[in-house]
Amino acid sequence: MDDRQEIVICLGSSCFSRGNRICMGIIDQFLKENKLEDKFFFHGSRCFDKCEKGPILKVGDQIFEGVKPDDIVKLLKQSLQIK
Ligand code: FES
Repeated sequence: MDDRQEIVICLGSSCFSRGNRICMGIIDQFLKENKLEDKFFFHGSRCFDKCEKGPILKVGDQIFEGVKPDDIVKLLKQSLQIK
């Protein structure tokens, strides 16, 4: 069984067009640069039915709303507890 923690990015059209298209690449790069690909399972998802609060990103059980490309690295460092 895969015991990696999940990072799920909403790729529904609303979130995708409002920033998750860019965030997706930033997260991918962040995981590679920090050699975290073995620890986290990063993948996309359909709409979370929270479009009005999007863009949405889910890390483990925690859902982040209004995610912005400029804040994504800070958010990842905090939520993944990386310095
Ligand atoms: S498109 Fe992301 S919550 Fe609907």
